[in-house]
Amino acid sequence: MTDIIVGVVALAVVLLFFLYQNLKTKRYKLPPGPTALPVIGNLHQLQKLNPQRFFYGWARKYGPILSYKIGSRTMVVISSAELTKELLKMQDVNFTDRPQHRSHEVISYGRRDMVLSHYTPYYREIRKMAMNHLFSPTRVATFKHVREEEVTRMMVKINKAAEKSEAVDVSELMMTLGNSVVCRQAFGKKYNEDGEEMKRFIKIVYGIQNVLGKIYFSDIFPFTGYVLDDLTGLTAYMNECFERQDTYLQEIIDETLDPNRVKPETESMIDLLMDIYKDQPLASDFTIENVKAVILDIITGGTETAAAGVVWGMTYLMKYPKVMKKAQAEVREYMRERGLTFVTEDDIKNLPYFRALVKETLRIEPVIPLLIPRSCIQDTKIAGYDIPAGTTVNVNVWAVSRDEKEWGHDADEFRPERFLEKDVDFKGTDYEFIPFGSGRRMCPGMRLGAAMLEVPYANLLLNFDFKLANGMKSEDINMDVMTGFAMHKSQHHMLVPQKVWK
Ligand code: HEM
Ligand SMILES: *[C@@H]1O[C@H](CO)[C@@H](O)[C@H](O)[C@H]1NC(C)=O
Repeated sequence: MTDIIVGVVALAVVLLFFLYQNLKTKRYKLPPGPTALPVIGNLHQLQKLNPQRFFYGWARKYGPILSYKIGSRTMVVISSAELTKELLKMQDVNFTDRPQHRSHEVISYGRRDMVLSHYTPYYREIRKMAMNHLFSPTRVATFKHVREEEVTRMMVKINKAAEKSEAVDVSELMMTLGNSVVCRQAFGKKYNEDGEEMKRFIKIVYGIQNVLGKIYFSDIFPFTGYVLDDLTGLTAYMNECFERQDTYLQEIIDETLDPNRVKPETESMIDLLMDIYKDQPLASDFTIENVKAVILDIITGGTETAAAGVVWGMTYLMKYPKVMKKAQAEVREYMRERGLTFVTEDDIKNLPYFRALVKETLRIEPVIPLLIPRSCIQDTKIAGYDIPAGTTVNVNVWAVSRDEKEWGHDADEFRPERFLEKDVDFKGTDYEFIPFGSGRRMCPGMRLGAAMLEVPYANLLLNFDFKLANGMKSEDINMDVMTGFAMHKSQHHMLVPQKVWK
């Protein structure tokens, strides 16, 4: 008798279990995607190089909205302009959050920054402050001389190489420029480019970027706790990078608190944040930790993005010599007519072909090609598919840039003229072209970023003709993209400059 009872109960338990499993998985009609393995999902399929191309390949197979799994997490990728508009305009509010990620939490002082903050009242306050003060047109303009001085320094270096017919490493030059400009804008620090302080700063930035990009076992297999993170050294590396960054930022803050300090002639960004710390004008607490977190955004947002953009531009121009000639001719003629020798931010307004070139550069290689991932706040639907709360969503901007409905069949061609034919801008309302994102979490540093990209780019075109180094042919240029925060060309771009006699 007891055997029968045990048997019936066991059967009921098994049935209930399957029913529950069924309910759990059948409840949602997720977007189509590759078959996921148990436990790891599609983790084994992901690649280190060229993620934007990889997801583009999946989109061709599964469509403009697709889903896959990393461990227990559901991931969605959007690849068309139409669905981007649905996501970032119609349903912006549902996708304003950022996904859970262990190192993002730690590095950003518990998400007190802007980039990684959850969508909270605090976030909305600092975002507003950033738009009105930190990144306002007036503030961006106060650093104009900084950007121009640093670009001039870079031109002097290239000139020296040109005199000796030596190759320059454009990737390296642009990174150095980005770092120098950011240190001056953020802290008012003018470091010697090859000095120890700059080396320390670069090591910190490199560490942050590395840590932010890693996948943590504790996020994708929550049942393992921190055990695997600890065993694989991920935790130790994260803590080491955090310590290095925190010590540095604390030193900078202590300097600003020193009563004997002479304030720099242009108020730097950290001074503004320290004023907020002292005056506490926000409804939310703004502690020293918050100052550090927000300054980190300025560092990570500013050092790499513009640099990567110029390197991509110079790479495509080497592959498209006619575009190079046309852009050079416009800049050179304009400057010669006015007897000018340095292209400033004001001159750029008057260079329509160059402005189209900048847009085309950001279209063909958007430097943050998968945007910064959003997280879904509540269960919703896109294109008839269920998107459960907590789903991570990426927009593949690189794929959207190749959406044939919007860009036609030559979307892989580098052709600035398309922006003279079509009135489209990157301000976040033309959904086929969103290198700075769109909606409530769109890049607040757009104006600053554009300035940091345009001035060096235009002056390179004004001053030099370029040849590929080591007799390389343009069709042999390696176009691989490296994953990271901003996506760089993975191999450094080496060019031999030749001075132009004006
Ligand atoms: C060419 C240069 C730049 C490009 C292409 C770029 C692009 C982007 C993109 C695509 C996002 C994500 C938007 C989204 O989630 O929808 C973003 C966010 C952000 N960017 Fe930029 N950016 C650039 C320069 C800068 C600079 C110079 C700064 C600051 C100094 C900056 C600060 C930020 C911040 C704070 C966010 C987070 C916004 C939020 O989550 O509310 N960016 N940027
Ligand atoms: C958010 O999602 C809900 C549920 O699907 C939907 O009704 C609503 O329109 C969406 N709203 C916004 C503004 O994102």
